Amino acid sequence: MCGIVGFTGGRPAAPAILAGLRRLEYRGYDSAGMATLTRERGLVWVKRAGRVDALEHHLQVEPLAGCCGIGHTRWATHGPANDVNAHPHLGGRDLQAPLVALVHNGVIENHEPLRNQLRDEGYLFQSQTDTEVIAHLVARELEAGRNLFDAVRHVTELLEGTYGLAAISPREPGVIVGARLGSPLVVGVGEDEHLVASDASALVAHTPHVIYLQDGETVRLTPRHCRVEHRERGSVTPRIDRIDWKPDAVELGRFEHYMRKEIHEQPNTVRDALRGRLRLAEASAQFGGLNLTARQLRRVRRVVFAACGTSWHAALLGEHYIEKLAHLPAEVEYASEFRYRNAPLDDQTLFFVLSQSGETADTLGALREARRRGFPTLAIVNTVGSTIAREADGGVYLHAGPEIGVASTKAFTSQLVVLALLALHLGRLRHLSYDEGRRLIAALEELPDQIERVLAIEPQVEEAAHRMVQATSALYLGRDLNFPIALEGALKLKEISYLHAEGYPTAEMKHGPIALIDPATPSVFVAPRGGLHAKTLGNIEEVRARKGPVLAVGTQGDDQLARLVDQMLPIPEAHPLTQPILACVPLQLLAYHVARLKGCDIDKPRNLAKSVTVE
Ligand code: F6R
Repeated sequence: MCGIVGFTGGRPAAPAILAGLRRLEYRGYDSAGMATLTRERGLVWVKRAGRVDALEHHLQVEPLAGCCGIGHTRWATHGPANDVNAHPHLGGRDLQAPLVALVHNGVIENHEPLRNQLRDEGYLFQSQTDTEVIAHLVARELEAGRNLFDAVRHVTELLEGTYGLAAISPREPGVIVGARLGSPLVVGVGEDEHLVASDASALVAHTPHVIYLQDGETVRLTPRHCRVEHRERGSVTPRIDRIDWKPDAVELGRFEHYMRKEIHEQPNTVRDALRGRLRLAEASAQFGGLNLTARQLRRVRRVVFAACGTSWHAALLGEHYIEKLAHLPAEVEYASEFRYRNAPLDDQTLFFVLSQSGETADTLGALREARRRGFPTLAIVNTVGSTIAREADGGVYLHAGPEIGVASTKAFTSQLVVLALLALHLGRLRHLSYDEGRRLIAALEELPDQIERVLAIEPQVEEAAHRMVQATSALYLGRDLNFPIALEGALKLKEISYLHAEGYPTAEMKHGPIALIDPATPSVFVAPRGGLHAKTLGNIEEVRARKGPVLAVGTQGDDQLARLVDQMLPIPEAHPLTQPILACVPLQLLAYHVARLKGCDIDKPRNLAKSVTVE
């Protein structure tokens, strides 16, 4: 959730670190800081509550020199957001001349006894953070004569909890030591320079060559050397991967916000999710990384998905797809609940986790729980090389490119496409007919163009946003396949516009939420033509009768719906299984425009972080 960047090389470190922190600001952002090693003044540092901007302003007045340093953006866990709790934290008995500066992501569970022990030994604490404990522990090892690498490695053995960390010491100019357990850390390999970051997006401007560190590894970086050791396995020869993101993938380009940019990327990201996965001749789909044979897949009797947030909503639609196309029972678990329940799995269950980031702690926990019980685990993930992607036994990448806006959009539609393909594949291994398979493939192939057409109604969505912006609460209603879309629409609205919204199955409205309906509470119906349309029209009448304003996402040309509601946002007529994918796009745009009209910080909504790497 917080962001780490470190740089060691032959050029000034501060600008490289600052650029990396900007890339990571979306992960967490209530304070930021930096420390560098300088020839004249040794270790120098600055840390500030607020955004990276505040840090940059400070650096303009008082630049940090040196070619080796570390930086951090913080999302508060222990202690409020203020200058003192911001990272880097300093370790040593004399905090005017500290022995180490350290940045950390994660949570140290045994920080309290360690802090008491260090206090008894005479170490002073300035902050309420668990990170300061690690900094003092490392300093204690340095005082005892260990070098920085051995000091960090030794300290990690004392820590319970999760960490991705990076440290520098004035005793070892040009050296950064990093370590990870449960919180990601990636090394960037440049020409006579090395970087380290908690997310590869901070590195792409510098190098496409990266090393994804594994849990239990400690790394020592100098401009020319990279040494990795694993806690149990000892010295490791690191594998260098290549990131193949397009250079503009992390740039805003003509857009004001990443969220809008990513919404508009969806025709392409959907194409990328489909690419190479359609088997036209067999009216089926194929996945390179599933690592399961047709025979193994035919034995499956049940599918279980675990995920959080938007990914959980995608899984809900996946449940419908699997049931409709493969006639298999499917269940969706909150990843945060799954591992604490006695949820039954068996040899004939296919267990999937879904995650955009591939780093969500709860989802990773669910995957590890399934693996601990001895079941094979599969993952549907966007971020290549992420922890979930590496730990799963098999899986499917979304290929949506980096998603930077905190509110997930393009990853969601790619998840839906992959889930439809998965259900098609499982269906075609069972009873699903060739014709039905072909019809779905044709519908999926049409999606990118249809999404383009939905994006073209953005001016109408803006008009709808004006109708919503004064409200304090909204209901999102959809039935069958459109219920997960209603949930997702409501989540998008509340997370970026802070307008309260609830998603319900349309007919459930009568069992409680209808009490909320009044002229100030809009209802947003996801109501494309299809099976239960007539019933939905009846539900809309019920809202109208209570003077509730109504917006609807409906099928283009549905005049009956258009007459009934205050405004209809039209989507093209489509296959019943791809229609929900189209229906979510106007709702993403609606949330975006309401938030914009309210002047909200769309890409960095308050209290949220892009990847939630703590439980
Ligand atoms: C909502 C959102 C979150 C994430 C959730 C899971 O817009 O982004 O609800 O969907 O935190 O994240 P991933 O998919 O990275 O595991």
